[in-house]
Amino acid sequence: FPIQSFQDALLNWYRENHRKLPWRENSDPYRVWVSEIMLQQTRVDTVIPYFNNFMEKFPELKDLADAEPEQVMKAWEGLGYYSRVMNLQTAVKEVQERYGGIVPNTPEEISNLRGVGPYTAGAVLSIAYGVPEPAVDGNVMRVLSRILLIEEDIAKPKTRKLFEQAVRSLISHEDPSSFNQALMELGAIICTPRSPACLICPVQQECRAFAEGRQQELPIKTKK
Ligand code: ADE
Repeated sequence: FPIQSFQDALLNWYRENHRKLPWRENSDPYRVWVSEIMLQQTRVDTVIPYFNNFMEKFPELKDLADAEPEQVMKAWEGLGYYSRVMNLQTAVKEVQERYGGIVPNTPEEISNLRGVGPYTAGAVLSIAYGVPEPAVDGNVMRVLSRILLIEEDIAKPKTRKLFEQAVRSLISHEDPSSFNQALMELGAIICTPRSPACLICPVQQECRAFAEGRQQELPIKTKK
């Protein structure tokens, strides 16, 4: 697999075509963290106003750590999955107390925080700290299942690890943040679930599914 051409095509496309989203304005780990928690079960367009309001109310990690839970809940109202924000405040308090308000930058420490699973850990480490860790969600599995023609069932919990290994072998060590965000962005804009825009895809030449005309068959997902 031509890793260098793939990285170059993906990163050049991302640099020129990514959406200007509020959480991309800077790489403050706290902001990245909040955005990734919001984005886990909620669409980008819905998240944007909530994210902006949340950052206005709780601009820094210590503001969220010190806030009344009722005020935090109020800022989350309408987003749903309320355990997300309760876990987030718990974790932020731990960062404040245990790490002096600095979000840890190792996989071990960040993964031990409440509500921080492998996806969130990889997203914060790569986007905020430039650590070359995978951040594999459903969109990234869809994109990579097509590019690499991976036919594992993405509904199986074990499958994510396979995709994480794929990302480890492909990720740019010069710019892990852009690399991971480019995979997400490709999934959102080009490599969509139903009718992927293969004709304008920056990595069409590197895509095994496209070469075989099988992009619509992937990813393979049994249950749900
Ligand atoms: N979905 C999950 N994380 C995202 C991000 N950082 N930007 C856009 N969409 C996302």
